Amino acid sequence: MCGIVGYVGNGNGVQFLIDGLNSLEYRGYDSCGIAGINGEVKVLKTVGRIKNLEDLVPEDLELSIGIGHTRWATHGGVNTTNSHPHQSFNKRFTLVHNGVIENFQELKDRFFKNVNLVSETDTEVIVQLVELFSNEGLTTKEAFLKTISKLQGSYALCLIDSEDKNTIYVAKNKSPLLVGIGEDCNYVGSDALAMIKYTNKFFEINDKEIVTVTKNDVVIENKFGEIITRDTFTPDIKHGEIDKGVYPHYMIKEIDEQSSAMRNILSKYFEDKKISIDAEIVEKVKEADRIYIIGCGTSYNAGLVGRHYFEKWAKIPTEVHLASEFAYNVPLLSKKPMFIFLSQSGETADLRAVLTKMKEVDKDYKFLVLTNVSASTLSRECDYTLLLHAGVEIAVASTKAYTSQIAILSILAYEVATQIGRKMKFNLEKELAVVTSAIDSILDDKKTIKNIANKLFTERNAFYIGRGVDYYSACEASLKLKEVSYIQTEGFAGGELKHGTIALIEKNTPVVALITNTKLDLNTRSNISEVASRGANTLVITLEKLARENDYAIPNVHEDLAPIVSIVVTQLFAYYAATGRGLDVDKPRNLAKSVTVE
Ligand code: AGP
Repeated sequence: MCGIVGYVGNGNGVQFLIDGLNSLEYRGYDSCGIAGINGEVKVLKTVGRIKNLEDLVPEDLELSIGIGHTRWATHGGVNTTNSHPHQSFNKRFTLVHNGVIENFQELKDRFFKNVNLVSETDTEVIVQLVELFSNEGLTTKEAFLKTISKLQGSYALCLIDSEDKNTIYVAKNKSPLLVGIGEDCNYVGSDALAMIKYTNKFFEINDKEIVTVTKNDVVIENKFGEIITRDTFTPDIKHGEIDKGVYPHYMIKEIDEQSSAMRNILSKYFEDKKISIDAEIVEKVKEADRIYIIGCGTSYNAGLVGRHYFEKWAKIPTEVHLASEFAYNVPLLSKKPMFIFLSQSGETADLRAVLTKMKEVDKDYKFLVLTNVSASTLSRECDYTLLLHAGVEIAVASTKAYTSQIAILSILAYEVATQIGRKMKFNLEKELAVVTSAIDSILDDKKTIKNIANKLFTERNAFYIGRGVDYYSACEASLKLKEVSYIQTEGFAGGELKHGTIALIEKNTPVVALITNTKLDLNTRSNISEVASRGANTLVITLEKLARENDYAIPNVHEDLAPIVSIVVTQLFAYYAATGRGLDVDKPRNLAKSVTVE
């Protein structure tokens, strides 16, 4: 959460700072600001979107050094004072921060006991400490280092000093940060997307390193002050990929991209009709006596579907856990666990906490991450990575990453099952190709889906129900609907409604049932009758072969893979329910795309 940028160079950095923040806005959009040196230090900040900041920037502003920030508030309300950049009392030091300083209150009590700080943020303590230590006679770098040595928690920091317009001091711990290499200038950004319009050459920064960035040089030092030599890398993204193109919103663009993401997966994970996955990964999963799939939000929901494949096809016991629970409430682990992390961004702090904790428990544990971002923190820190190849996902609501995660979990489980000697009665490559065409035909039917959404989601509440894997799809469908339309929605196991939740059904309450498993068809239909007879406005989304009058029928696909298809209808429901209410579907309130704080 929060996005930060920095520029130092021969040119004017203002446009980069604004462009960079616009690209990072998905990480948080409560408030934003920039600061730079132009004779004196200029700080411009505002509540709301980057657009408001652009309106504040004078046309003739020139900054050869500057930093910027887009905020997702953690400490202190959403107002201009709490917005970044923050300055030290004497205004010499200016800083932006992404992360959470866990001991900020302790530091405040220790170093600023009877002093009124300007803001309510944890960040301000950092910049005030730099000033304090600099007043003791330390150089800026020494003061920065001393400050960092006192911090507990997560941080990505860019610091500038009004007395030195050539240097940005950069450091990180747990929060993401990259340095981009330019010509006669260098950049800093929370991710490559922020800088890809300007450069495709990046240095990664590891936790606890300190980096001194000038226009012609980037010096990386470890915590012992030793200089580190590191190669640059070029990520697999292109500037054009982050444009909305002809689409009004990223969410609908990304929903639409799901069939091409499936085709990408087919081409990356199959070769000459055989599955192509690193043999060591398959071996490690095969050897496991239990698989632990861990994720948050939509990724967690994808894990629930993935469990079905590992247990049904490969017969390996599999548990699915929420990362935020697992890290601090570790279940009794099996003798030979294998951990599979699911994370679109590869940056989610709750997952990183699990990784750190599990590495402490046993250094021989192995971790595989399925992520969409090749240079992400989790990809670097886990033993193995399987890339989603879904293309950049920018809308806060995850869509194409979800279907890609499920597809790749199915490929991994299928390969493991086959190698273990299980008789698989279908050809996965062919079935995934059928899934891809089925997604295409749903995407071609947007008009009908929009009409249904407009008629159905008219109330304050809504429910999705399903049994078996359809229950997991119901959970994801409801997460999608609630996060973008603010309709209060729950996903329920069909049979569970009558044990309490049915009390919430009123006249016209929308209840959507997902039925993609022949064996469970009648059971779920009974649940739908139960709510319909209490006034609910019901709809069934089902396979063509099971469809009845007034159902929404999706093309027939292999039943185990149907969650990849049925979910697309519900993603479109969420999109149309939100846009129909005039909401900002790409940036729903209170949310951020990449959740880098625990
Ligand atoms: C999805 O629509 C959400 N906004 C959110 O639940 C997301 O899936 C979750 O924060 C996990 O993110 P990750 O996949 O990048 O780890």
